[in-house]
Amino acid sequence: MKRILFAVAECQPFIATGGLAEVAGSLPKAIMASNTNYKVEVIMPLYRGILEKYGKKLKFLGKSQIQLAWRKLYCGLFRMVYEGVTYYFIDNKYYFDRDNIYGHYDDGERFAFFSKSVIDVLPLLTNQPDVIHTHDWHTALVNIFLDILYKKEGKYMDIKSVFTIHNIEYQGRFGEHILEDVFGISKKYTDLLMYNGDINLVKGAIVCSDLITTVSPRYAREIALSQYACGLEYIIRLNSSKIVGIINGINTEFYNPMTDQSINANFDIDSIEKRKENKKALQMGLDLEVNDDICIISIISRLASHKGIDLILDKFHEIMLDNVQVIILGKGDYYYEQRFQEMARFYPKRVSALITYDMDLSKRIYSGSDLFLMPSKMEPCGLSQMIASRYGCVPIVRATGGLFDTIKDYSEKDGNGFVFKDYDSSQMLAKITEAVGVFNKKEDFKKLIKKAMSVDFSWNR
Ligand code: GLC
Repeated sequence: MKRILFAVAECQPFIATGGLAEVAGSLPKAIMASNTNYKVEVIMPLYRGILEKYGKKLKFLGKSQIQLAWRKLYCGLFRMVYEGVTYYFIDNKYYFDRDNIYGHYDDGERFAFFSKSVIDVLPLLTNQPDVIHTHDWHTALVNIFLDILYKKEGKYMDIKSVFTIHNIEYQGRFGEHILEDVFGISKKYTDLLMYNGDINLVKGAIVCSDLITTVSPRYAREIALSQYACGLEYIIRLNSSKIVGIINGINTEFYNPMTDQSINANFDIDSIEKRKENKKALQMGLDLEVNDDICIISIISRLASHKGIDLILDKFHEIMLDNVQVIILGKGDYYYEQRFQEMARFYPKRVSALITYDMDLSKRIYSGSDLFLMPSKMEPCGLSQMIASRYGCVPIVRATGGLFDTIKDYSEKDGNGFVFKDYDSSQMLAKITEAVGVFNKKEDFKKLIKKAMSVDFSWNR
């Protein structure tokens, strides 16, 4: 039996802001289902939101005192089993009893506390891990502490550490003072953690971990290049022998159009004509013209620049020259939110801008729209193009990261969507025009929907 402990800052169903939580919430179960010799458990902070929702179901396991530089801090440990997976929660009200899970002035200290706790509560866990698997900068210090504080003193020598980069843009960068005063790491390790003038936790984890993974093979190659690595390309190249890219999967039970309770009409690959009912309900619900012959293009995304939102806004009016409707669902930069709302006012009955995050609504949009636009500048993996495909909504993507690895262009033998190469709004527009052209050839488009739905995006793959 191999025991793996996931340490992560967010995890479905407890708390989520993005794809990281979806992966942390679905991969442990999938690993155990694929091989009974693996036991995966998850450890995360006990945020206010989790305490409010699951408080009564949590079992108190014990407490510990955590030393973080000069601070002596209370750390409570709770446990809950959910759908067969054991979750541990680290409790400290001062750090985690707050409204949002990120964005506080002391995030460095909060996640340093969490990371130190992960190692210090190991004696309280029923099972000792063979592998600790951490994700993104919030938990990078687990791997760093393990390597330079514990293993050097002969503790936990047999535990291997894996670090997954979900997005290299977020590196956990801090001023030099944080090293001794907050992390409690001696100055002699400054070089190890220093990068381009900052203490950089992702750099530290890359150096200190036994293995690094990232979320698609293509992204693993891209992050060796300056245009994708956000400054870390040098350290990525130096450590390339221990970096591997593995494409994420999606939870195909949760995202199943045949059983999904939140959509109007359930369907599968043999009953795609039922999608029409979903499309009609969507058009009615969003006050768009109800007409099956109009192609609905949807965008479900965080409204951030690396998602390619600038390309969409640049060509918005030209996209609207076709017989299309556009639905946008997502929150993000205020400027983008405003621009999309402006477009919705400009094109009544044709554009709907839903500035919110809503899981059920997203599934209704996937199940009733025809094309899914995702022109990311960078996309480590991307989950929504896979979810869209599963719901028969054909993706139009830019060939980067996981989008490159999951979607093949219509012109290719196994084409399951539309792919353009460069980060260029004219290339995107040409692809959209081509895709709408295929939509208008009903029989061809049906075949393409089936092709999109037939690809296996589960973790098994
Ligand atoms: C990050 C990446 C996204 C990836 C997700 C899960 O949110 O930006 O591409 O799918 O992590 O790994």
